[in-house]
Amino acid sequence: MRKFILTILLFLCTLGAFAGEGMWLPFLLQEINEKDMKAKGLKISAEDIYSVRDGSLKDAILIFGGGCTGEVVSNKGLVFTNHHCGYGTVNNLSSVKNDYLTDGFFAKNQGEEIPCPGLSVRFIRKIEDVTASIMDGITEDMDKETRDKKIKARAKSIKEKAALESGLEISLKSFFYGNEYYMFYIERYNDVRLVAFPPNGIGKFGGDTDNWAWPRHTGDFGVFRIYANKDNKAAAYSEDNVPYNPKRHFKINIGGLQEGDFSMVYGFPGSTQQYLTSDGINETMNVLDPARIKIRAKRLGYMEAAMKESKANFIKYASKQARVANYYKKWQGELLGLKLNDAVNKKKAKEREFLSWARKNPVRWAKYGDIIDKQKALYQNKEQNELQYNYIRECLRASELVALGRYGDSLLTVNDLYSRKDDFKRIVKRIASGIKRMDVETDRKITTALYEMYRTKFGEANEISDQSVQAMYSSSVFSDISKLNTLLDSQNPLDITKAIKEDPVYLASKYITTENKKVLTDLRPDIISLRENYRTYMQGLREQSKKPLYPDANFSLRLTYGKMEGLEAQDGMQYNMYTTLGGAVRKRNTEVEEFNMPQRLVDLYEKKDFGRYATWHKGKKDVPVCLLSSLHTTGGNSGSPIMNAYGELIGTNFDRIWEGTMSDINYDVNLCRNISVDVRYVLFIIEKFGNAKWIIDEMDIVETRHY
Ligand code: ARG
Ligand code: ASP
Repeated sequence: MRKFILTILLFLCTLGAFAGEGMWLPFLLQEINEKDMKAKGLKISAEDIYSVRDGSLKDAILIFGGGCTGEVVSNKGLVFTNHHCGYGTVNNLSSVKNDYLTDGFFAKNQGEEIPCPGLSVRFIRKIEDVTASIMDGITEDMDKETRDKKIKARAKSIKEKAALESGLEISLKSFFYGNEYYMFYIERYNDVRLVAFPPNGIGKFGGDTDNWAWPRHTGDFGVFRIYANKDNKAAAYSEDNVPYNPKRHFKINIGGLQEGDFSMVYGFPGSTQQYLTSDGINETMNVLDPARIKIRAKRLGYMEAAMKESKANFIKYASKQARVANYYKKWQGELLGLKLNDAVNKKKAKEREFLSWARKNPVRWAKYGDIIDKQKALYQNKEQNELQYNYIRECLRASELVALGRYGDSLLTVNDLYSRKDDFKRIVKRIASGIKRMDVETDRKITTALYEMYRTKFGEANEISDQSVQAMYSSSVFSDISKLNTLLDSQNPLDITKAIKEDPVYLASKYITTENKKVLTDLRPDIISLRENYRTYMQGLREQSKKPLYPDANFSLRLTYGKMEGLEAQDGMQYNMYTTLGGAVRKRNTEVEEFNMPQRLVDLYEKKDFGRYATWHKGKKDVPVCLLSSLHTTGGNSGSPIMNAYGELIGTNFDRIWEGTMSDINYDVNLCRNISVDVRYVLFIIEKFGNAKWIIDEMDIVETRHY
C-alpha cells in the first residue's frame, strides 16, 4: 500500500512540475515531453508536431512580419494571425479615404486581395544542433572578451557556410545563456497579401482598456495569403504569382471545448527571463519599469490627443500608438505582479536553496559559491548605464524628426556631381515620406517634453537643448522639404555640406548615436560578464534540478502545453474559460471609441444569425469569442495557433491576463493564463459579418468534438 501511494505521489509530482510551465524545444519533445503530454491528453505523437521530414505541424507555422507568429489554414497558403500583428501593415495600406482600420476589409475574391509591400513570412525548414562545432577549441580558461569574440566569429562562419550550401536564410541562436547553440534554416516568402481584416470595432474591441486583461471580447485576428511563383517557390511580388501550396496546413475544429481539455500553443515566443537572479528582478522592478512607464505616459498623451484631432492624424498614429501603449501597460502589470507576489523574496529563497545545494560538494562550491554575489555586483555597476541606455531609446529616439537626421550622412557623401541630382532626389523622397508619416506639431510636442525628461536625468547638452529642439521645427531643412530642395539645388557643394553639418536635426541625430555608443561601450564588459556568469549559473540550475528545464524564449520555435481553464484570479473573482458575443454586445458603448462595435454585428447577434459557430451558453445560443488556457506564452506568441489534443486549430493566441503579466520573469501557473480568440468567432466574423464565405470554403473544418 505504501509503495502504491508513493508511486501515485511520484506520478502526481512529475505532472505537477510540468503544469502549464515551459516553452519547449520542438525537436526534443519526444525525448523530454511526449510521455507527459500523452498522460495529459495529447492524442498525436511528438513526431506529428515536429519532424525532420516534411509534413509535420511545424510546416504550418510561420514567423509573421517582424515579431509575430502565424499559421497556414488552407492548401492555398491562407494564413491566420492577429489583428494587432497585421495592424502596422494595414495601417500603411490605409488612407483617409480607404480607412481599413476603422472600416475593416474583406476581399470578395482572390483578385481583390491587397499586396502588402514590406511584409514577409518565414518558415523554419530545419533545425540543427551546432553546439559542438561552435565550442570546438573554445575553452573555459579563455578570458570573457576573447571567448565572446571567438564564438561570434565561429557562428558567423558556420552560418555563412550553411547559407551557401542550402540557399536558405540562416539564424543561429544561443540557448541556456550560451550553453547550447541551434541553427535554423529559414525560407522566406515576400509576396503576402491581405485577405480579411475586421474593423477596429471587432479586431481591437476593448482597445487599451481591455488590453492585457480578462474578461476579453477582442476579435484579434487577420487573414493573409502567401503567394509563390508557378513552381511554388518563394518569389518577389508579381501579378503572375499563385497561392502558395504549403507542406502542411491546419485542420480547424469547431466542435466545441470544455474546461480541462488538453491544449497547446506552437509559435515564436520572443524573450523571457525566467532564470534571472533576485538582483536582476530588482533592476526591472526598481529601475527599468518605472522609468519606461513614466516616459511612455508622456508620449502617449500627445499621440492620443493628436489622434482625436483629425482622421489624418488617426491614420498617422494608429499603429505607433498601439505599439507604445502595449508595453506601457504591460510594464505596469508586470511591476504590480512582481510586487504583489513577492517575486524578489521568492527568488532569494530559491537562491538560498541553490547555494546550500552547492555547498554540499567542494567542486560545486568552487564553481557556484559566489555566482549570485558576482551578479549582484555587476547589476549595481551597470545600473546607471542601463538606465541611460533605456532613456536614450525611450526619450531621445522617440522623435520622428530627429530620426530623419540619419539621412544627413547620405546627403554629405553625395559627391559625384553627375549622379548628384538623382541621389539627392532619392534621399529627399525618403525624408518627405518620413515627414508625411508624422504630424509635425505633435512630434514637436513629444520631442520637447521627452528631451527635457532626458536632460533632467542625464544633463544638458547643446545638441538636445530646448533651444535646439525648437530650431529643429522652425528652421531645419529636415522639417521643410522646400527648404531642403532649395539647398540641394545650390551649385556649391560647400554650402550644402556646411548647412547640413550645422543643421539642428542632423546635430541631434549625431549626438544621440555617439551617446548611445558611449553608453554601450561602458555597458559591454558588464553585459558580457553577466552573460558568462549566467552561463555558469544555468549549468548549476540544470544540475540541481530533478526535471529538465526549458530555455528562456529567444524568438525560436517552441511548444507549450497545458489545458483550457479559467482561474480564480483574485479572492472572490472567478474567470471563466471563455467569453461570448453576448458579453461583447453588453460591453458596447457607441460613445467610447474603444467599445464602439459595428451595428451590423449587433444585428447579427440579435437575429442569432450564428451559422454553425454557435454554442449553448446559459441556455441561450451564443458565439464564443475569447478563450483562457494555462499555456506559457509571451510576446511573439501572438498569432500562434492554439490546438486541441489532435493538433487541430481551435483558436489564435493573442494575449495574457493582467494578474499574470509578470510571467516573463516569474511564471506561476496559479496566476498566469494566455488569451486566444476562438476560431469559431473568427469564422463567424468572416462568414456572417464579412460575407466572405468563399474564404471559409478553402478550409478543412472538423465539426465534431472528439472524445
Ligand atoms: N497585449 C497584446 C500583445 O502584447 C495585444 C496588444 C494589441 N493591442 C494594443 N492595444 N496594442 O501584443
Ligand atoms: N500580445 C503578445 C504578442 O504580440 C502576446 C503576449 O505577450 O502574450 O505577441
